Amino acid sequence: MTRVFSGMQPSGDPHLGNLLGAWVNWVRMQQDRDCVYCVVDLHAITSPAEHEPDRLRERTVELATGMLAVGVDPERSILFVQSHVHEHAECTWLLNCVSGFGELRKMPQFREKSTGQGESVSIGLFDYPVLQAADILLYHTDEVPVGEDQRHHIELARDLGQRFNHRFGEVFTLPKAVHPPAGARVMDLQDPTVKMSKSASSEKGIVYVLDEPKRIEKKIKSAVTDSADDIRHDRVDKPGVSNLLEIFAAVTDRPVDELAAEYDGHGYGTFKTAVADAVIERLRPVQERYAQLASDPGEVARLLAVGADRARAISTPTLERAKQAMGLLPPGSA
Ligand code: AMP
Ligand code: TRP
Repeated sequence: MTRVFSGMQPSGDPHLGNLLGAWVNWVRMQQDRDCVYCVVDLHAITSPAEHEPDRLRERTVELATGMLAVGVDPERSILFVQSHVHEHAECTWLLNCVSGFGELRKMPQFREKSTGQGESVSIGLFDYPVLQAADILLYHTDEVPVGEDQRHHIELARDLGQRFNHRFGEVFTLPKAVHPPAGARVMDLQDPTVKMSKSASSEKGIVYVLDEPKRIEKKIKSAVTDSADDIRHDRVDKPGVSNLLEIFAAVTDRPVDELAAEYDGHGYGTFKTAVADAVIERLRPVQERYAQLASDPGEVARLLAVGADRARAISTPTLERAKQAMGLLPPGSA
């Protein structure tokens, strides 16, 4: 069966973009693929500015709970916390030794995130893509569902796997990125020309998965549109309305054109109310399930422990093979 691996950082509260752009796809892939999903906490400590130890602990639990609440099924898939499986850190070291300084320095995300930090930028941030490559390669991953912005990281994982296999023998499966359908790019409600993102300057443009219905309604009703009142999909001329249409379509599983035809001529007020109601309805079962899980932290901890055990059952043998291939002496032999 096709093996899927994906990860998300426990930084920032999950929002509608994470749900529609990533999680919906993760949940769908469980039907016919062998999926491994990871809360990548080791990645979340690579930016000192965003790293608060107490918050990190909470966010790690919150993100895992959120994944379970949207429908990641711990019976069918593996869900675990990256730092619980030390193989990831260890494999990173092996892969560091086949990674080039030049190729890492060129990674667009490193260039972006390191801007302004000068010489004090951490080696962790520099090495971030190699840790990500270890995540992927340890599980013989075929497909990595990620946003477009991760394309270079997946290509690097592929390159490192290939280079390793070439030098030391076939150990790693070479992965490829798979991107969710284009419609699943959710834009900021206040500035529909930029992606909805945890790094936005204002929370008004972001619908969080755990926002109360009243807040969701308020945010969607004050979404930026334009002064005309026709409802049609046109990302260039009508980015705000188009974004709302796409969100509407994604949460109801209905085609954008059908929704546009149904609401055109009824004014933005009616349209926005309908979008808000649909988003609230889509999030309601997720929020209920979240509340249920959050009331039983022992159960979430248990599920994560089971997930880590199952993750190790795959990653430990892969790591052992990689170490042997490199000529590292197995303990107990001489
Ligand atoms: P981030 O919250 O930036 O760490 O993103 C985690 C995952 O959610 C990535 O795989 C992204 O592709 C996806 N994602 C984040 N923001 C959006 C968005 N506005 N629209 C669609 N997908 C998103
Ligand atoms: N870097 C990814 C992101 O920011 C998160 C991530 C870490 C990841 N390890 C991964 C995604 C492995 C896919 C596979 O979205």
